[in-house]
Amino acid sequence: MKDILEQLDQRRAEARLGGGQRRIDAQHARGKLTARERIELLLDEDSFEEFDMFVRHRSTDFGIEADRPYGDGVVTGWGTINGRMVYVFSQDFTVFGGSLSETHAQKICKIMDMAMQNGAPVIGINDSGGARIQEGVASLAGYADVFQRNVLASGVVPQISLIMGPCAGGAVYSPAMTDFIFMVRDTSYMFVTGPDVVKTVTNEVVTAEQLGGASTHTKKSSVADGAFDNDVEMLTEIRRLFDFLPLSNRDRAPTRPFFDDPARVEASLDTLIPDNPNQPYDMKELIAKIADEGDFYEIQRDFAGNTLTGFVRIEGQTVGVVANQPMVLAGVLDIDSSRKAARFVRFCDAFNIPILTLVDVPGFLPGTSQEYGGVIKHGAKLLFAYGEATVPKVTVITRKAYGGAYDVMSSKHLRGDFNYAWPTAEIAVMGAKGAVEILYRSELGDADKIAARTKDYEDRFANPFVAAEKGFIDEVIQPHSTRRRVARALASLRGKQLSNPWKKHDNIPL
Ligand code: HXC
Repeated sequence: MKDILEQLDQRRAEARLGGGQRRIDAQHARGKLTARERIELLLDEDSFEEFDMFVRHRSTDFGIEADRPYGDGVVTGWGTINGRMVYVFSQDFTVFGGSLSETHAQKICKIMDMAMQNGAPVIGINDSGGARIQEGVASLAGYADVFQRNVLASGVVPQISLIMGPCAGGAVYSPAMTDFIFMVRDTSYMFVTGPDVVKTVTNEVVTAEQLGGASTHTKKSSVADGAFDNDVEMLTEIRRLFDFLPLSNRDRAPTRPFFDDPARVEASLDTLIPDNPNQPYDMKELIAKIADEGDFYEIQRDFAGNTLTGFVRIEGQTVGVVANQPMVLAGVLDIDSSRKAARFVRFCDAFNIPILTLVDVPGFLPGTSQEYGGVIKHGAKLLFAYGEATVPKVTVITRKAYGGAYDVMSSKHLRGDFNYAWPTAEIAVMGAKGAVEILYRSELGDADKIAARTKDYEDRFANPFVAAEKGFIDEVIQPHSTRRRVARALASLRGKQLSNPWKKHDNIPL
């Protein structure tokens, strides 16, 4: 009996070594943690329960049959983050570069199926050279099995992808179908094919960093939702994100203890809006002053800064925030910001997270580059996302709400539940200058007349009261009481029930 127990310990020790000490050392030398070290940091201490530690590949080509490490390049199982359950897979780069074989895929599929059945999120730690080349179509089939589960799990349980090494091929397409992707700066890359293939096919010479580093994907492509400096920072921050999220679409996000008065008055907000309507101010200040303890977990911080997206808590409950940022491009809606916000709104709606929308938007960005890029279709994504969302929707217009962008930004007409405006709000088809130039084109040579026309337009439209008269704005509120008004609105909406007509699925403009 003793021998048998010792044998188990030996086998476990062997499995824990993955691809061997030399490769573990190489992983560390690159500034990366191993697959198991990452799980340890991500999960609560001693909470990890492993599956399939002794699984080995069954392939026999290219001499690979002589090399069959336990675990087959991925560590899978479940554990807890601050006491809440989560399923995890962590690819082991020390075993065939973390590449995905048939059996490696089966291990991932097993925990994904369990996550769906038990209603808990999946966090995938990706550090993989993609499909295992020696296995050919068997590994492609394995990837497709994972992809299919990514699709079925979408909107059922949150799926978070951590990119923690060079990821190619299937290793990027699976994350691409999950809710959030985060990368580590300088050690992680995402590309369909690496620099060598790019050089052969297109003759472009690029480094891995330029092609698919964290900077590329957080600032240019928007494939990734955020980046961190190292493995430890990433895993700590993902624990923080996890606390904002519900376990599944059957669940509500957790309520966290809070030590911040929901009725807190913020006198400084009464002077947040500058006297000059063209002068920007920082919308993040308003978000921080509304949120419990000023805590804002920003998503896609480095992309399309003209719209801000992220999570806060109000009275301890998770709220998704979408806000125009006057500091960047005057807060205009364009292709990138519409796509960014639309995806975020859909995530919140899928997972029962109420949405707070803060509006200061001069409209959609005009011009050929936007039109050629399809701003009509991309802007429609955001319109569609807000229109289909049935979660509680609270909107505060702080200053401009012009044109189609007024409609889009969670207006009353798109089933906004509480639509507030500050007294500084201007709700109109367009700003005074543009309107006067169109309406009084024949008078453009006469500066006095135009000035009078502009003033007349401003007096009539540069306020929230025309909309309030029509009931499109529920109440004009004092800026200093915004947190209290928003908190009370959200509290009153906790029992909200609203559903859309039955359909197989919608056809959002993609
Ligand atoms: C088998 C692989 C592998 C793979 C890496 N390795 N990728 N083994 N299949 N796909 C092995 C290497 O042989 C090496 O083994 C070890 O992992 C480390 O790899 P290195 O190349 O030494 O590491 P590094 O220089 O850091 O480069 C990492 C890399 C590179 C950028 C990931 O290995 C690479 O480009 N790999 C191939 C990527 C790729 O084209 N994959 C197929 C994608 S197609 P030893 O024994 O020396 O430690 C795909 C289709 C899916 O995924 C469907 C999509 C829709």
